[in-house]
Amino acid sequence: MTEVTRTAASPLGDTCFLETQFPVAKMSAESYKERKANYSQTLTGLGKWWGRKPLVLCRATILGLLLPETADPRLDREVFLRLMTMDEDGLLRRKSKTIPPARLFACLPPGDRARCFEAGSTETKAKLKRGLSTTEKEELQRRVFLALPYDERLQFCDRPEQIDGPSPESWRVVNAHLGTHASSLPELVVELGKRRFGRVPRVGDAFCGGGSIPFEAARLGCEEYGSDLNPVAALLTWAALNIVGGGPGVAEEVRRAQQEVYDAVDRQVTAWGIEHRTEDVSEAEWHALIARLERGKIGPADVSRRVPRADAYLYCAEVVCPETGWRVPLAPSCVIGEKSRCIARLVPDRENHRYEIEILSGVSEAEMTAAKKGTVRDGYVVHPMLEEQNKQPASITQIRMAGRGRDPRARYDDSGLRLWENDDLVPRPDDVFQERLYCVRWVRAVERRNAKREMVWDTEKEYRAPTQHDLAREQRTLDLLRQRFREWQEKGFLPSMKIEPGDKTNEPIRTRGWTHWHHLFNPRQLLVNGAFAETTICVDVGAATLCTLVLGLGKLAEWNSKLCKWTPAPASEKTEQTFLNQALNPLLNWGSRPLPMVEDNFKFEVQTSGRSEPGTVKPIDARAVSAEVDIWMTDPPYADAVNYPELSEFALAWFGHVLRERFPSWYTDSRRALAVTGSGEDFRRSMVDCYRNLTAHMPDHGLQVVTFTHQDAAVWADLALILWAAGLRVTAAWCVATETESALKEGNYVQGTVLMVLRKQQSGDSVFLDEVYPEIEIEVRRQIDSMRNLDDAREPNFGDTDYQLAAYAAALRVLTGKKIEEIDVAYELNRTRKGGEASPVEEIIRRAVRIACDHLVPRGIDVHLWKSLGPLERLYVKGLEMESHGEYRSGVYQELARGFGAGEYKPLLASTKANQTRLKTASEFGRKEMAGDGFGGSLVRHALFTIFTTVQSEGTREGIAWLKAEVRDYASQRQNLIELLDFFAALRQNGSMPHWHTDAAGADLLAGALRNREDNV
Ligand SMILES: C[S@@+](CC[C@H](N)C(=O)[O-])C[C@H]1O[C@@H](n2cnc3c(N)ncnc32)[C@H](O)[C@@H]1O
Repeated sequence: MTEVTRTAASPLGDTCFLETQFPVAKMSAESYKERKANYSQTLTGLGKWWGRKPLVLCRATILGLLLPETADPRLDREVFLRLMTMDEDGLLRRKSKTIPPARLFACLPPGDRARCFEAGSTETKAKLKRGLSTTEKEELQRRVFLALPYDERLQFCDRPEQIDGPSPESWRVVNAHLGTHASSLPELVVELGKRRFGRVPRVGDAFCGGGSIPFEAARLGCEEYGSDLNPVAALLTWAALNIVGGGPGVAEEVRRAQQEVYDAVDRQVTAWGIEHRTEDVSEAEWHALIARLERGKIGPADVSRRVPRADAYLYCAEVVCPETGWRVPLAPSCVIGEKSRCIARLVPDRENHRYEIEILSGVSEAEMTAAKKGTVRDGYVVHPMLEEQNKQPASITQIRMAGRGRDPRARYDDSGLRLWENDDLVPRPDDVFQERLYCVRWVRAVERRNAKREMVWDTEKEYRAPTQHDLAREQRTLDLLRQRFREWQEKGFLPSMKIEPGDKTNEPIRTRGWTHWHHLFNPRQLLVNGAFAETTICVDVGAATLCTLVLGLGKLAEWNSKLCKWTPAPASEKTEQTFLNQALNPLLNWGSRPLPMVEDNFKFEVQTSGRSEPGTVKPIDARAVSAEVDIWMTDPPYADAVNYPELSEFALAWFGHVLRERFPSWYTDSRRALAVTGSGEDFRRSMVDCYRNLTAHMPDHGLQVVTFTHQDAAVWADLALILWAAGLRVTAAWCVATETESALKEGNYVQGTVLMVLRKQQSGDSVFLDEVYPEIEIEVRRQIDSMRNLDDAREPNFGDTDYQLAAYAAALRVLTGKKIEEIDVAYELNRTRKGGEASPVEEIIRRAVRIACDHLVPRGIDVHLWKSLGPLERLYVKGLEMESHGEYRSGVYQELARGFGAGEYKPLLASTKANQTRLKTASEFGRKEMAGDGFGGSLVRHALFTIFTTVQSEGTREGIAWLKAEVRDYASQRQNLIELLDFFAALRQNGSMPHWHTDAAGADLLAGALRNREDNV
């Protein structure tokens, strides 16, 4: 336990914790845990926004900026971890799940196993002894938990935000170290803020998106400011602060209002009879049921117990095949459900030149396989009649063009499609793409006896092809919608906005002729969503609750549009949401959700979290922000391909009018022209303007953190140039892996979120690059040494790539702190670079990486030997060390090659596949790559070759003879060879490198022979 009676450590000047250290490995694990929580993350439930930052990272950043650096870096770190509840004490407080017995068993030594487990227990099936006391069980849990690696411990923990902060013991340690008197994070933040800025710290984000940063700042007790160019982002941030942060009172009102609106819409939809199989009961019975529903005698659920209700509608586009004249339903696959083994089968209707669609469940494997081949293959329409008539398939593009100019009064797109008009709610009969309902899944209520022999309600689901009754319900839905359409559009209950053409928004126009946002929805979706909007306006609630209901309308749109894919996968058999990818791509077949299936979308759960009074939130261009804050933490739209303005118009079309009423001072369009996007000169100029403005709106000792996605040195250089030009200097940078596993797997480069810490530039004389280089060299080494000194050998905080990235940061720290004679920042920013041409800043970063690579001597290799190796030799040895740490990304080798200035390194690789890249073993090299003065003639290559001969001949004699004959100055290289062979021999202990085991044994044998002087030298 830490001694807590000591006096407070004095801060070392103005420097903050985040400028000197950051527990990146633990932060990566925490961010990953939060991301994996998906919809149960605190803010994601409010609505879709792309690129949300994990709250835990925002919390760590703000605390890291407020905490001072002291003369005791280890205690600084301990205090930081305690505040984040990422230390042992905090993790034990967060532990909410029990470690299963088999896991306990696997982690315990034999003595404990015998003492605590029943005989016969194994690592897969274990049972704790009956007589163990609760204390003994708790102690077992505690011991095993604390022995697990950090990321495994997190599997049994809540997130830091889900518990009530550090323990009283931790507060004693924190206060003793910092000289503070806090017992909660907000109290500490206020104390630290007053010390650093003379007031409660003000934290702002001018690119706030979904609001993570202002929300976390508010929760920590800061005065927060949040703005974003996009009003949807501003609304989400406002909601985060006022709804999630509004406390239990707001949450309760929200829950009540959501239920009230949902129930009203449910009664209405039930009474319309558009989702029930009314033909299953007599007309008289149906009317009687509805009459009782309307009198409030029964609820919609009672109606559904008597009459089956739909829980999925499946639609597809249909076109006329120009070759055969037949109408063909379009679907890339005819499989509807993999678990229910349900498929759609086309049955020719020769009289009408169309296909009936049969729905079959529980089909054979062969039928499932056949159904996987749909009617659209590689952009061509393929159907049974083509084969019968011996005709060739037509492409969708040809079919589209065939529709050109059919109606002389209509407007047409270049793609050949008629452009829909506002009043078009379904395709016109002449349109190329018709829309067809081809399957309905029904839910039937059945009574069953449960285990206690009581009668309970259960449900059975069934897919069926639509009948005449279903088609009549489709027509009734359309009629009901038509009766309301004009009025609902005027009142803003239905979208009336035109789709502005753009990168993403061209897609619906070009591929379907849809010109207005409501064209992305079918009549069912419009009628039900419109009914929700109409009912929402009528409920009497406060602003926060009204906004939640409005966000609910956005979610209904997102989960129930014609862009919602139907997924037949066994675990799902359900409709996905619109934004599966960051695009607006119309589908050939899609699912539509009846009311019960959107219940959870509309009645989304509002999590609550205590906070202080909400600060300012508004939509505004970052260039025009005038708020004064102490800390800007921003996550600009940099190097991300998300087209925020265009995608957000999908939601704005649904709730823009409410925003106008509720926030009269806000604008309600997406301001496409002002959005910072792309990567060219215009983009860089806008970014400089944004950051110059933010820098002007912070005090001289203010701090900024800019986050961006790490890709390569060019991205860093570009951003550093922008921030440098905006009057900022880099003081530190850390890279945290925030992406989930799948995202990481896709990227083959070193991926992660970089946090760049910045301060205002101070005026100073300009210097020449030559004068800066030595300083960069010293700084890179200092940075790496300080990280290594602080690192924990048992649980390393930094990986190999962290050291390289630290070199980037160190170089930028030196560079951006000065004016450099040879670098004209404004000129460099405006210059269009040819492909592959590096900016001077990029050159400097690369140089820094080289310094770092040279400084990072692999463990087991002596500095002198390291210095004597050539670039490819270093790449090989360092690469093997990284592989032994589980590194298989190809981008890492690319970075290493650049870092060492090594040329063609690919011949050294056994595999170049994404995430499987590794170096050849000695045996895989065999006799190859032996030529030339480069790697072929190097000491490392000779060592590898002799390992190969040792393995081949099962003896050392041939190898030793080779070394004596081929290695120049063998006697003086002998010791180096032993060292290299020892290095390779050590790979034998690495369980994840089985491909090295035989060669490593050979290396061991050979090293032993040389050491025993079997070479007689
Ligand atoms: C990467 S996102 C921020 C995500 C956010 N940190 C979160 O956690 O949700 C970048 C944001 O910048 C906004 N943006 C783009 N151009 C802008 C401008 N000129 N001024 C202010 N915000 C802008 C976008 O609307 C987008 O929300």
